[in-house]
Amino acid sequence: MTDAPVRLSFVCLGNICRSPTAEAVMATIVEEAALSHRVLVDSAGTAGWHEGDRPDPRTIEAAARRDISMDHLRGRQFRAADFDRFDLVLAMDHDNRRDLLRLAGGDATAKVRLLREFDPVTVGGDPLGFDLAVPDPYYGGPDGFDLVLDLIDGACRGLLDHIRATYDLT
Ligand code: 4NP
Repeated sequence: MTDAPVRLSFVCLGNICRSPTAEAVMATIVEEAALSHRVLVDSAGTAGWHEGDRPDPRTIEAAARRDISMDHLRGRQFRAADFDRFDLVLAMDHDNRRDLLRLAGGDATAKVRLLREFDPVTVGGDPLGFDLAVPDPYYGGPDGFDLVLDLIDGACRGLLDHIRATYDLT
C-alpha cells in the first residue's frame, strides 16, 4: 500500500458550472471524511473559453446556499499532459467524455469515466433519464444549478466509496 494521494480531475465543457461544482462538493465530502491528505481534487474544461474566470455567478450562488465556497476556483482548459497528473478524470457528460478520449492516448483512456457511473442510484440504468450525464445548466434556469448540485453530491459520495475500496483508504 502506498500513501500517495489519489488525484481526481472533474471535467465539463466550460469549467465554470458543473466541474468546479464537482471539485468543490468533492473537496467538502473528502474533508468531512478526514481524507483531504489522501484525495486531491481539481477541475478543468474541454474548452478554453473561460481560462482564468471565476465560476458562473449562478453556480456560486447555488453552492453558497449549501455553504459550499467556490471563491478560490478559476477556469482552465484540460490538456493532454494532464492525464499524467491524475488517476481518474471524471467527465460530466458524454460530449466531455468523447472529447477527453480524443485527447487521451494509450493507458489514459482507462482513466476517463463518467462521474455519474459512481452514483449507486444509476446502477442498472439512470432512473432520472439523463443517460448518466450531469446536464449542462448554462442556458437554462436557476433550477438547473440545484439539479447539478444534487446529481454531483450523490455521484461524489459514490465516488468516494469507490476510491476507499479501490485504493484501500481508511
Ligand atoms: P459547464 O457549462 O460546461 O458546466 O461549465 C458551460 C459553461 C459555459 C458554456 C457552456 C457550458 N459556454 O458556452 O460558454
